[in-house]
Amino acid sequence: MRPDQWIFHSFILLSSCALFLLGPTSATLDTISANQTIKDGDTIVSDGNMFELGFFIPGKSKNGYLGIWYKKISYGTVVWVANRETPITDSSGMLKLSQYGKLQILSGNSTEIWSSNSTVSMRSDNPVVVVQLLDNGNLVVWDRSSRKQSVIWQSFDYPGNTMLPGMKFGKNLVTGREWSLTPWTSEDDPSPGLYYHWLEPTGYPQIFVREGLVLLWRSGPWNGHKFQGLPLENPNPLYSLKFVHNKEETYYKYELKTSAVLRILVMPDDTTVQLNWIDQIQDWAMYGIAGVKDSWGRYRLCGPYGSCSINRYPPCKCLVGFRPRVQDEWDRANGSSGCERKHALDCGSGDGFKKISGVIFPDTRRSSYNHSMTLEECETACRMNCGCTAYANSDVSRSGCLLWFDELIDITESDEKQDLYIKLAASELTEYALYGRFSVKSDVFSFGVLVLEIVSGKKNREFSLDDHNDNLLGHVCRDAAKRKDKGKVSNEFVEEVRTMSLTTDSEVELMKKRLKFDQEKEKKMEEIEKKGKK
Ligand SMILES: *[C@@H]1O[C@H](CO)[C@@H](O)[C@H](O)[C@H]1NC(C)=O
Ligand SMILES: *[C@@H]1O[C@H](CO)[C@@H](O)[C@H](O)[C@H]1NC(C)=O
Ligand SMILES: *[C@@H]1O[C@H](CO)[C@@H](O)[C@H](O)[C@H]1NC(C)=O
Ligand SMILES: *[C@@H]1O[C@H](CO)[C@@H](O)[C@H](O)[C@H]1NC(C)=O
Ligand SMILES: *[C@@H]1O[C@H](CO)[C@@H](O)[C@H](O)[C@H]1NC(C)=O
Repeated sequence: MRPDQWIFHSFILLSSCALFLLGPTSATLDTISANQTIKDGDTIVSDGNMFELGFFIPGKSKNGYLGIWYKKISYGTVVWVANRETPITDSSGMLKLSQYGKLQILSGNSTEIWSSNSTVSMRSDNPVVVVQLLDNGNLVVWDRSSRKQSVIWQSFDYPGNTMLPGMKFGKNLVTGREWSLTPWTSEDDPSPGLYYHWLEPTGYPQIFVREGLVLLWRSGPWNGHKFQGLPLENPNPLYSLKFVHNKEETYYKYELKTSAVLRILVMPDDTTVQLNWIDQIQDWAMYGIAGVKDSWGRYRLCGPYGSCSINRYPPCKCLVGFRPRVQDEWDRANGSSGCERKHALDCGSGDGFKKISGVIFPDTRRSSYNHSMTLEECETACRMNCGCTAYANSDVSRSGCLLWFDELIDITESDEKQDLYIKLAASELTEYALYGRFSVKSDVFSFGVLVLEIVSGKKNREFSLDDHNDNLLGHVCRDAAKRKDKGKVSNEFVEEVRTMSLTTDSEVELMKKRLKFDQEKEKKMEEIEKKGKK
């Protein structure tokens, strides 16, 4: 079934044909004034002939609704419905603009079925109000009492299942009003379905979808170009995305750069599609698609410090440095209880960071941000705060800092290009650097250079430690010195060292202490080294 399948009164067909004959330039057809009404069967048409407003009956329904649909293209594709929850059961519906700017739908016996609840400010004694259908699909009630006309109500403030270019999606933080999206219940019933899409401003804004009261899905935060996990992205030849987050409001919208016809539609099963009208084929082409019902992409599927991938079974893994909280649940492919640290943080200078890439950032509701901080300042801020669990650059196109102060929840693997730096105990990082990375690389020389870099904080500086605790270091570095292929330092290694940021003097001192390995670890090293020499 197509989402835009519908039937409308034959009356509308007749009158719209008549309107068409009159041509798109008839100036008065896009407005109605105070005390004027539109009966079921009448319509008004926007100035450029793009949209039409009137009563219609969707699909197999018997109920009537006041709606806005495309006129010039894809005739009958409804983009907005006024009385979603209060249909008219006969053809007696009327739209009226009251003297004071209230838009009303009345049934035959003058009962109010729906109202915009809007009024002009009381200081106007002789209010002049009109309602106008704009060519972007916005129905606006204007107060024209004074020379400077003002908007007293607009349909763009009450989105339904369709996000048109120029519509805000987000929240007015002064009034508390949300610009949210809800699908139709079914093709035949425009009443709000179970799904609710909104922009959550708590912490750092991200998009959520819930079904009833259950959180289903979450996007990542805005990264300067896009919301992580959504297909819409800047730069784009057709549209530009705008994200605004200040004290008054937080919202996201897209504006067309060309005459392309785009809409974003949430379908009754909650599939969200981006549709583009193609003249040649006289149909809508689907651009991006986001299926939030995908059960493996569900919010919090993997629990704290877990990482979820829909391309893997079981979908959950623990982040590096973490292990399953309840192993036998994980063994039954249930990772919902999440992961715990292998080594506790020491909440001092002994902690470091591990960079992870290619993920949608964890839930940012318990985060804070500062757009003027650099990544280095961000790291320091996270290091200094015991409760900080991770940090990241908040905006890929400039500096900016995002800090997490809670368990890291709902990390999803994807092709996002932003890096996340998670806090780990230094013992974890040391062990990871010495054994984890080393055994993968089997590269003794790189290992030697790594250690050098960690200790000296400088690349390729000659190694000399007057410290007598240098058993292992000396061992490895003497070996490294014997080798000739000194160019083999991989960039990845250098990056690894940089990530660990163990570069200050006090940290070097700390590293030296951590490098007093026990016999067992040293033996392990020797084994790996033997392998490396083969
Ligand atoms: C609308 O109707 C009211 C009451 O009948 C009247 O007072 C007012 O002048 C009318 N306004 C316009 C613009 O016709
Ligand atoms: C007007 O019609 C509605 C149904 O359209 C009905 O519920 C209501 O009782 C009627 N009111 C009067 C005063 O007849
Ligand atoms: C208008 O206000 C009434 C009562 O406060 C409310 O039930 C109704 O939903 C409001 N209508 C709109 C379109 O907001
Ligand atoms: C997974 O484990 C949790 C307890 O951590 C339990 O509540 C949940 O029902 C389990 N899910 C399944 C599908 O077994
Ligand atoms: C953001 O960071 C800058 C630079 O570190 C600092 O001067 C400023 O006070 C911070 N702003 C807030 C709101 O913390």
